[in-house]
Amino acid sequence: MRVGGSVGVPGDKSITHRVLLLAAMARGTSRIRGALTSLDAKSSARVLRQLGAVVSPLREGSVTLVAGRGRFRRPAEVLNCGNSGTTTRLALGLLSAHRFSATLTGDRSLRGRPMRRITKPLAAMGARFTERNGDGLPLTVEGGELRPLRYEMPVSSAQIKSAILLAGMAGEVEVAVREPQGRSRDHTERLLRAFGYRVLEHDGWISFIPDGKVEPIDIAVPGDPSSAAFLAGAAILADGGELRIARVGLNPTRIGYSRVLARMGATIALENEATQYGEPVGDLLVRPARLIHTEVPAGEIPGLIDEVPLLAVLASRASGITAFRQVGELRIKESNRLELVAENLRAVGGRAEVQGEDLLVEGSEAAPRGRVRTAGDHRLAMAFAVLSTLPGARVQVDDMACSAVSFPGFPGALRQIRRKARP
Ligand code: S3P
Repeated sequence: MRVGGSVGVPGDKSITHRVLLLAAMARGTSRIRGALTSLDAKSSARVLRQLGAVVSPLREGSVTLVAGRGRFRRPAEVLNCGNSGTTTRLALGLLSAHRFSATLTGDRSLRGRPMRRITKPLAAMGARFTERNGDGLPLTVEGGELRPLRYEMPVSSAQIKSAILLAGMAGEVEVAVREPQGRSRDHTERLLRAFGYRVLEHDGWISFIPDGKVEPIDIAVPGDPSSAAFLAGAAILADGGELRIARVGLNPTRIGYSRVLARMGATIALENEATQYGEPVGDLLVRPARLIHTEVPAGEIPGLIDEVPLLAVLASRASGITAFRQVGELRIKESNRLELVAENLRAVGGRAEVQGEDLLVEGSEAAPRGRVRTAGDHRLAMAFAVLSTLPGARVQVDDMACSAVSFPGFPGALRQIRRKARP
C-alpha cells in the first residue's frame, strides 16, 4: 500500500471536553470551532445540558455554541456519561463545588471503571459521595463549600489532576497536586491560565490559585494528536508515499508517541507550527519506515498513554522485542487494554505478552491474520485496523463502529489516505 495526500483529523477529545465544561461554567455564550463531534464529546454536551447549559448540537463543520449560567443547576435526572471517563471525572470535580446532589452513570464499560481515585481527593476537599456500585458508577456526589487541598497523586493521570484543579476553580480554593512519574496532558492547566488563573509549577507540584474568572470564550480546537497517530501509523507501515496530517495539536504532553517512533526509525516531520489559544499546533509529515524495537520507560508512559495500542501494533512489525514498562493503567481504560492488546496481537499471529505491569511485543514480518476482539474499545479497533492495511493481511476487527467514540469517520479516513496514492 502507498499513502498520499493531506488529511485533517477531528478535534482534540481532551480539549473539547474541557472547553465544553468551562464554557458551561461561564456566564454568557461561548463559540467553539472544530469541536470534536464524537460520541464521547456528545456525552459531555448532554450532561452539561442536564446541568443547565444550552449547548448547540455537535455537528461536524459547524460552530458549537455554549450558553452557560455561571453555575450548574441541579439536574432533574441521572447524568449519563456514556463511555466517557473524562466527562465523568472532570464533571465530578466541578460538581464537588455545587450545593446539590447529582448521580452519574455510564455504559457497561464506564460503570466498571474506578472512581475512588477521584472521589478520595475530592472528599478530602469536602465533597460527599455515595457509592452505588463499589468503586465505580453509579455514584452520587453532593457538593458544597470546599477546602484547599495539597495532594500527591498515586498515579500520573490527567483526569485526577483535572478533577482537582476544576474543583479548585469552581470552589475558589487553592489546590496543589503532584504526579508521581511523568507528566500527564496539561490542557486543563493551559486553559485555566488563559482565564487569568495562576497555575504554577515548582518542584513537581502544580499549584492553582483561584484569582481568575471563567469567561465566555471564542476558540478553535486543534486536531486530536491521538487520532492522528492512527493515520500516522498506517503511513509508517505503507511501502511508499508521504502523508500530511494537517493542523494537529502538538502539545508536548500529547506527542510522546512521536519521540518513541523516532527511536524506532520513523521520523515524523513538523511543518506550519503555530500556537493556537495557548496550544501548539502544526502539520505532521509522515513517511513509511522500517522499524526497529525500542524500550519505552515508565516515565514516558503518561505522555503516550492512549497511543500504547497503536505503538504495540507498530512494534509487532519492528525488528526485535519492544518493551513498554509499567503500563498497568491500561487495565482500567475503556477495556482491559493491556491484556487485550497482547491477546489480539497473538490472535493475528504475533508474539506479545504481559509480564507483571510490562507489555512485551516481538516483531515479525508475517502477514497478520485472525480475528480481533475489541470489547467495544475504540483505540483497539483503530490500532488493529491499521494492522489490517498491511499487504496480505486478513485481520477482522469485531467492532469498527466503536471508533466513533473518538474518531467519527475513521474507516473513511483510513481508506482516503490509501486511495489518494493510487497511480
Ligand atoms: C484523558 C486522560 C487520560 C486518557 C484519556 C483522556 C483526559 O486518562 O487516557 O483518554 O482527557 O484527561 P487518565 O487520566 O486516566 O490517564
